[in-house]
Amino acid sequence: MIEQYNQTTLEKALSLLAEGHVIGMPTETVYGLAADATNDIAVARIYETKDRPSFNPLIIHVDSIEMARQWGIFTPLAEKLARIFWDTHPSSLTLVVKRNNDRLSHLVTAGLDTVAIRIPFHPVALELIKKFGKPLAAPSANRSNHISPTSAEAVESDLTDRIKLIINGGACTVGLESTILDVTGEVPVLLRPGGTTTEAIETIIHHPIIRESKNSDEIRPKAPGMMKRHYAPSIPLRLNAKTPHPGEAFLACGKTIVNQNAMLNLSETGNLTEAAANLFRMMRQLDNAAHKGIAVAPIPNTGIGLAINDRLSRAAASE
Ligand code: TXA
Ligand code: MG
Repeated sequence: MIEQYNQTTLEKALSLLAEGHVIGMPTETVYGLAADATNDIAVARIYETKDRPSFNPLIIHVDSIEMARQWGIFTPLAEKLARIFWDTHPSSLTLVVKRNNDRLSHLVTAGLDTVAIRIPFHPVALELIKKFGKPLAAPSANRSNHISPTSAEAVESDLTDRIKLIINGGACTVGLESTILDVTGEVPVLLRPGGTTTEAIETIIHHPIIRESKNSDEIRPKAPGMMKRHYAPSIPLRLNAKTPHPGEAFLACGKTIVNQNAMLNLSETGNLTEAAANLFRMMRQLDNAAHKGIAVAPIPNTGIGLAINDRLSRAAASE
C-alpha cells in the first residue's frame, strides 16, 4: 500500500481523492492524512480513519498564495506573512484567517468561520495539490494519541488496512508540525509553536506576537473565551430528543416520525459517516433566532458517533 512517487501513483492518488477517499501524503513537517477539503464525506473519513473521538478543525493545504486567497480572507498582515514565509523564505507556517466561501466543508473548520491554511514545502504534496486543483485537508497521518509519522513506513504501521494509498516521499525534513498563527485580529496569536520560529515572525512584523501556548502538543487558551476555537449555536441545544418541543427546530438522525418545517436529517439511513459530514452545516442552518432552540435526536455512541456526541455535548454546554 506504500507506493513510490511516480506518474502512476500520482494518477491513482488523484482518482482516490476525487472519489472522496483519504490517502497518506508526505509533507516537509509530518505525513498527512489527506482528503478533498470541499467534500464533507471525505473529511468525515479523515476523522474515522484517525479514530479521533472529537472534531478538531483541520489545516487545509494549498499550492500557492493564489489558491489560498480563494478559500480565506487575507488581511494586509496575513498577506505580508504569506509573502514572506510562503514565497520568499518557504517555511512551515499555518495561517488562521477568515473563511470566505461555502464550498469549503464546514466539517474541515468544525463549524468555525475561520480556516487554517498552509503551503506544504514538499514537491510531492505541491504537485498533488496543483493537479487536484483544490485544497487538501490533512491532519497528521496517525491514529489519535499516537505519534505523528515522519516516514511512509510509520504511517503504514499505524494505519494499515485503513487507507488505500500512502505515497512515499521519503523522510520528512522538518519532522515537527507547522507553526500555527492566528492572524484574524490586529495582533497575531501563536496557537502552536512549530517549524517557523516566533523570532523570525516578530522580526518581520516588528511586533511581539501573543503566545497562546508553550506546549507543542496542546493548544490551551490563555484566557477562557479569548479564542473561540469551537462552534456552538447561538440558540440552546437540547440533546437526545425524540421529538421537538413547540418552537424548537429539529435535527433528526435516521428514521423519524417528526414532520415539521424547521427540520433537517443528519442521515435518513442513520449512517454515522454521513451524519458527521452534515453535522456542522446543518447546525448552522438551524441556528436561527426564529427558533427557541434546536432539539437533537439521539446519536448512537459508536465509531464516529463518539465524535458527534462529543461535539454536541460541548455545544449544548456552550463551553
Ligand atoms: O505540519 C502540520 O501542520 C501537519 C501536516 C500534515 O500539515 N498537520 C497537522 O494537523 O498538524 P493537525 O490536524 O494535527 O493539527 C491542526 C491544528 C489543530 O490543533 C487545530 O486545533 C488547529 O490546527 N486549527 C485548525 N483550524 C483552526 C482554526 N480555524 N482555528 C484555530 N485552530 C485551528
Ligand atoms: Mg496531530
